[in-house]
Amino acid sequence: MRTVRIGWIGCGTHAMEMLLPQIARHDIELRALCDSARDRLELAGRRHGVHPEDLVSDWRALLSRDDVDAIGMAVGPGLHHEIGLAAIERGLPVFVEKPPAPTAAKAGELADAASKRGVPVVVGFMKRYSTANRIAANILHGDEFGPRASFLGEYMTAPTYFTKDVDYTGFYLHHCVHYFDLVPHLMGEVASVSARRHELTPGKLLLHVDFRFVQGGIGTLVVGTHQSRGTPMEWWQVMGDHRRVEVRNVHEVRYFRNPPFKASEPAASLVDGVDTLVWEPNLTAAANEDHKGYHALLGDFVRVVRGEKVAVPDAAAGARAMALLEQALASAK
Ligand SMILES: NC(=O)c1ccc[n+]([C@@H]2O[C@H](COP(=O)([O-])OP(=O)(O)OC[C@H]3O[C@@H](n4cnc5c(N)ncnc54)[C@H](O)[C@@H]3O)[C@@H](O)[C@H]2O)c1
Repeated sequence: MRTVRIGWIGCGTHAMEMLLPQIARHDIELRALCDSARDRLELAGRRHGVHPEDLVSDWRALLSRDDVDAIGMAVGPGLHHEIGLAAIERGLPVFVEKPPAPTAAKAGELADAASKRGVPVVVGFMKRYSTANRIAANILHGDEFGPRASFLGEYMTAPTYFTKDVDYTGFYLHHCVHYFDLVPHLMGEVASVSARRHELTPGKLLLHVDFRFVQGGIGTLVVGTHQSRGTPMEWWQVMGDHRRVEVRNVHEVRYFRNPPFKASEPAASLVDGVDTLVWEPNLTAAANEDHKGYHALLGDFVRVVRGEKVAVPDAAAGARAMALLEQALASAK
């Protein structure tokens, strides 16, 4: 199987800290790097052993190369859309961080172009790939669980980014959008979505999002900008009939089923198939460092570039998440 040659655009915080280190763990050659900021570009080049001649400031120059099999990028919403369309036009598979575009309409353009040209696009919705979320989703989608009745979840952040200039666009596009992909991934297609908002003080916004799902269940998602990022800020639970799955802080899974009371049972024990199953990673193991899911997500991107059929968060999923986000925000005004 041949090494996948990637041209990467955007060497900012996220690419440098999360994505490029994972790329080094796959069978990928970082063929060329692009960033408009020379210092970032050169730092990334040194770290990842990319030849100085393959460091470019203009993304168009990177796209016109004939020695890359695919494009990866973590730049920002407007450029994700613009570069994404240009890469699809060139027939190059794309890994694009979320959000795939600044608006649902533009994310839809990307999805339409990808579908018309048959070019794979993978969006950086890594929450689907966190090991705990993957375990939980597999339980929910398995035969034993049955119909999913409700989703309840919380995905918070801090006011850090919003105190000076109170514009919540970044919160919506860079933070909330993740759960407008994860919730339908867990619960199935959304029939309707709306939201209520409460602003504690400027910069500290709380949204309660209400979902109804096509298969009949209901859901509530709480997102907000008024919790410390120094604490765990993410948990969710899906309930079925006498069973529920809970994930805390993307690393602790609990599957509750229908055990009898144990207090008056002298032979009380833990029974296979009845009692609660718990999974946590062994954080001391010097292996499998992928609890947030970036490594697994990029692994699927490599498979897609090699032509394998894999269920990935694609451009259509990106457009769906952006459309649900916009519907929720419109109803909260
Ligand atoms: N999935 C996740 O967990 C996650 C986490 C953080 C960020 N992100 C996403 O990644 C993207 C980037 O975020 P970030 O925090 O790294 O931002 P950043 O500002 O640190 O990085 C963006 C980089 O793009 C470069 N850039 C800007 N315009 C350019 C152009 N025209 N040509 C080439 N390079 C250009 C900048 O110089 C910068 O180095 C955002 O869309 C964000 O939502 C995703």
